[in-house]
Amino acid sequence: MSSSAVVGLQWGDEGKGKVIDSLASEADFVVRYAGGNNAGHTVIVGDEKYVLHLIPGGILHAGTINLIGRGLVVDLAALLEEMDGLIARGVPVDERLRIDGRAHVIFPYHRQLDGMAEAKLGEGKIGTTGRGIGPAYADKVARNGIRVADLLQPEYFATRLKAVLAEKSALAEKVYGQSLRDCDDLVERALEMAKRLFPLIVDGGAMIRAGYRDGKRVLFEGAQGTMLDLDSGTFPFVTSSWTGVAGIAGGTGVSPRSLDRALAVTKAYTTRVGEGPFPSELHGEVGERLRAAGNEYGATTGRPRRCGWFDVVLGRYSCEVNGLDGIFLTNLDVLSGFGDLQVVTGYRHAGHVLTDFPGENSVLEELEVVTEILPGWDEDITAVRSFEDLPPNCQNYVDFLEQQMGVPFERISVGPGRDQIFVGKNGSESLWQ
Ligand code: IMP
Repeated sequence: MSSSAVVGLQWGDEGKGKVIDSLASEADFVVRYAGGNNAGHTVIVGDEKYVLHLIPGGILHAGTINLIGRGLVVDLAALLEEMDGLIARGVPVDERLRIDGRAHVIFPYHRQLDGMAEAKLGEGKIGTTGRGIGPAYADKVARNGIRVADLLQPEYFATRLKAVLAEKSALAEKVYGQSLRDCDDLVERALEMAKRLFPLIVDGGAMIRAGYRDGKRVLFEGAQGTMLDLDSGTFPFVTSSWTGVAGIAGGTGVSPRSLDRALAVTKAYTTRVGEGPFPSELHGEVGERLRAAGNEYGATTGRPRRCGWFDVVLGRYSCEVNGLDGIFLTNLDVLSGFGDLQVVTGYRHAGHVLTDFPGENSVLEELEVVTEILPGWDEDITAVRSFEDLPPNCQNYVDFLEQQMGVPFERISVGPGRDQIFVGKNGSESLWQ
């Protein structure tokens, strides 16, 4: 038995799709444990680009079972659309995909309430993906949610959904002054959609625990990033799930003691989509250049991402809360030709230099960053396949980040392609124990 987790070190969009794809080729199970179709994991195979939102990243590999774990919120229509898109491209989805019956369902009213809540917040909005994630998780916590397995009992499901709908309609009308759309026939439509999924519904926790007993390899696939975690992130500008390593046990049904390796993915700089504090953010021309060079637009919503320098304070915090064993550094190629690069190494606030990531947004908004300036490089590094072949200034930049983070850089990625990746100076050949 061996298990590894891959999580996002920053605010999501770190390039987890490609990393998970590379590890998934050697995994028996790939398991998503949190979030929903707010995620967008991109995998490029030859000339083909796949963007996965809900389906785990092992789906392109023969012999891998991909589980939508119990910690997810599942939009049935979005899932079917994603499945059909992959099937149309020849991927045998039904063979490789399973859904935990304990996962919760996102209904159209969740999406609408997400939009209404954001509109009401106005300037203070979170900047959600509008996929209904927050309202669906809120229902789960309020014990008002409906689980995937409930659809297997049509009468029970219809009774519950009708009761919830009455409450949601009143909420929409009384709080937001609007009517819910798409409520007619919702029971019938949901049951119709669910029929296709019935053969795929399993007790996911039991499946993975049995896999452990049989000596299988399990890869836990994080979505979003640690800084968007409900508790570890920059609340309330976070998503509504536990995105870090701590979310794995609850979101899948395995013991927290059963994880062998915790890995995280980070860009060689920082990005964020949506609102909220971002200490190393670059405004103006340099930020624009970074956005253009990295094509920094959301894979799910197409929104331009905010861009900034690499932030060691944030990075170290994320290493500690996740208990990381290794890091994947991505998008290093994007920094070619930037001239001098800066790295944030501390935060100055009220006369002190903070080296721990503060929990108060007011501090995060007011602080000044302390930066180190490192010389950049001009060479195109997209064809480089070993650390020694990187330009000296690029090697120095990577060495500096690795030393500051105190966790080995296992792999370095220099482009979106499956092959544009190599072992870091202190990386190990195999990522499985
Ligand atoms: P929600 O997850 O749609 O509720 O959005 C909450 C916050 O998380 C917003 O700032 C989103 O932009 C952000 N977010 C959610 N999913 C992702 C993701 O996959 N990548 C990056 N940001 C995300």
